[in-house]
Amino acid sequence: MDYAATTPVDPKVLKVMLPYFSKKFGNTMSLHSFGREVKIAVEDAREYVANLMNAKPNEIIFTGSATESNNFALKGIAFANKDKGKHIIVSKIEHHCVLESAHWLEKNGFEVTYLPVDKYGLIDLAQLENAIRKDTILVSIMHANNEIGTIEPIKEIGKICRENEIYFHTDAAQTYGKISIDVKKMNIDLLTASSHKMYGPKGAACLFIREGVKIEPLLHGGGHEFGLRSSTLNVPAIVGFGEAAKICKKEMKKEEKKLTKLRDRLIKNVLKIENSHLNGHPKKRLPNNANFWFAFIEGESLIMQLDMKGIAASTGSACSTESLEPSHVLLAIGLKPWEAHGSLRLSLGRWSTKEEVDYVLEVLPEAVENLRKISPFKGRWK
Ligand SMILES: Cc1ncc(COP(=O)(O)O)c(C=O)c1O
Repeated sequence: MDYAATTPVDPKVLKVMLPYFSKKFGNTMSLHSFGREVKIAVEDAREYVANLMNAKPNEIIFTGSATESNNFALKGIAFANKDKGKHIIVSKIEHHCVLESAHWLEKNGFEVTYLPVDKYGLIDLAQLENAIRKDTILVSIMHANNEIGTIEPIKEIGKICRENEIYFHTDAAQTYGKISIDVKKMNIDLLTASSHKMYGPKGAACLFIREGVKIEPLLHGGGHEFGLRSSTLNVPAIVGFGEAAKICKKEMKKEEKKLTKLRDRLIKNVLKIENSHLNGHPKKRLPNNANFWFAFIEGESLIMQLDMKGIAASTGSACSTESLEPSHVLLAIGLKPWEAHGSLRLSLGRWSTKEEVDYVLEVLPEAVENLRKISPFKGRWK
């Protein structure tokens, strides 16, 4: 129930990867046959990854993670285009790696507008248009939110950016391989995708950079990846990423249908629990995401209760050693801190079954009830 955090490597992907650890171990930059053989495998992977978003292979830059891709997009665009302007727009519900990159850019002479979202987590297109200035160089708004699953109106955002000649980046870590993406039709200039969220291995991700976009590399060195990301390529992981994309291309539509059905079964029945609420949009949401808040309980305690019953889930609240910080996403959609603390994210994936969903539906109401009985919250915030 936590596929949004990471996914297992598909056995078919693993099989394709295995020879690249020791038998086909070459360096893609080597001119001899060991190098040439892995270079071909990487270029095949580039084609599969590009294909799943309707990009050209030479528009895909392999990176080590979605975090790296997002840092690359924001900082790379900022530094390459600072002569044009120093203003960037992001939403308030971006992943920390986008928000922290934006904060870092603020410390380095750039200005950032943080766009609010409505109670479902959707940005307002008119507000976006109003936020655009003469010196705006980049808009970065995620395709779907990793906590509440809300899918943003990417095509429309892209259109506004195109009309204003501003680069548009979207973090598609949670959507690539799950729902259809067409970078051309959606007017996307830069897109982040990640392998370990779609049944590929960790250690591989990419940044799609539309041909003609001006971007500064973050890693300088031997000139790998068209001179945009130096580092010896992680061939096994990239090969796995490519295979995962190939499989998603084939399975995505079917999987989307199956997961939507399971998700809706989960949502409908969880909401029968007294004082439970859905976070995120009821329809415009990821097929595999369900997120709730339950009054008078603490998400972390619920996670532990579920864990004891063999269910791996996640909460929106990030627990730090000194304080319990409620999720910035849940606060942005208008939840009060105590409401945000009672949140639970359940996310489904390729191997989720109706039996698993029904098991959660059996265990969850009792876990919530048990926690409410001992809740120090009850009555205090009524
Ligand atoms: C939307 C989104 N962006 C970025 C990331 C960062 O991914 P990684 O930690 O693999 O770099 C995640 C991972 O949870 C995510 O869900």
